[in-house]
Amino acid sequence: MANKIKRVAVFTSGGDAPGMNAAIRAVVRTASYHDLHIYGIRRGYQGLIENDIIKLQRSSVGHIIQRGGTMLKTARSEAFRTKEGRKQAHEALMAHDIDACIAIGGNGTFTGAKIFQEEYDFPFVGLPGTIDNDIYGTDYTIGFDTAVNTAVECLDKIRDTADSHNRLFFVEVMGRHSGYIALYTGICTGAGSIFLPEEDNDIDHLVAQLKKSTKRKKLFNLVVVAEGNQNGGAHEIARKVNEQFDGYETKVSVIGHLQRGGSPTAADRLLASRLGYESVNALLAGKKGVALGITNDKVVFTPFEDAIGKSKEPSKDMIRMAEILAL
Ligand code: F6P
Repeated sequence: MANKIKRVAVFTSGGDAPGMNAAIRAVVRTASYHDLHIYGIRRGYQGLIENDIIKLQRSSVGHIIQRGGTMLKTARSEAFRTKEGRKQAHEALMAHDIDACIAIGGNGTFTGAKIFQEEYDFPFVGLPGTIDNDIYGTDYTIGFDTAVNTAVECLDKIRDTADSHNRLFFVEVMGRHSGYIALYTGICTGAGSIFLPEEDNDIDHLVAQLKKSTKRKKLFNLVVVAEGNQNGGAHEIARKVNEQFDGYETKVSVIGHLQRGGSPTAADRLLASRLGYESVNALLAGKKGVALGITNDKVVFTPFEDAIGKSKEPSKDMIRMAEILAL
């Protein structure tokens, strides 16, 4: 390969996501196949600033494909937002003669990579690793499928007790800005209603729906709420509904960080393996400044500015479908 890249570093940044380890493994194994030196930066950009860099080899990534979390740890770095922080990061990379970086994370991670690459003309490629699935340029992000499966398992359990007691449950899932987890979980668990950050959900409309359900003798109900819905989280929405309607005994459950952990699903391991493998090939082919993704089963490369700047939202058709199936 006619390319000067000999030393590559990989790191994870932002919120962890199941499948990040599988991605790290694929990067390390592919780099090693091509006789590259491969380094792991611990704790994302913060670790880079602090020169927390370790040498990796094939054996370093044994027995991790099935593990949640990230063996390289992760962080959200305020210091990397500053010029001084990025200067220290550059010095650390130069101290190890590193030629290129593979960043695994979400929008914040790609934003950091883009700024750094522009300032120092240093090659970066990105892999979409976030449970939120909110990155433009890929059908799915690493970790999303596992998070949804975890949430579905929780909702199925809540359904059992909701049914036994004839209760109305408001269940909050993650997604400050993104409704993908809420929508997919709501569809897969037959929720009566789904509140998303992207939608202007109306409490009065929900109350009217609940009144209809009780008339139909539907004795329990599930409402899935994304944490970022503009009416508030599940507690707040339950409170507002209770002010208007007391036809159900209501309970609230917040699934929280359970969704971020656990063994990745087969779909996430496969996605992470494909993207990790392709990210090394991309660097060797001279690509930089791009996020990798898979759309329609093909690997695609999206410039960081589009991956960050263009929004990706759950499809309106799917939202409509969810409403109709819940009627
Ligand atoms: O971006 C992933 C995510 O899990 C969001 O869904 C959630 O809002 C946020 O991270 C929580 O972040 P933290 O773990 O820092 O509280």
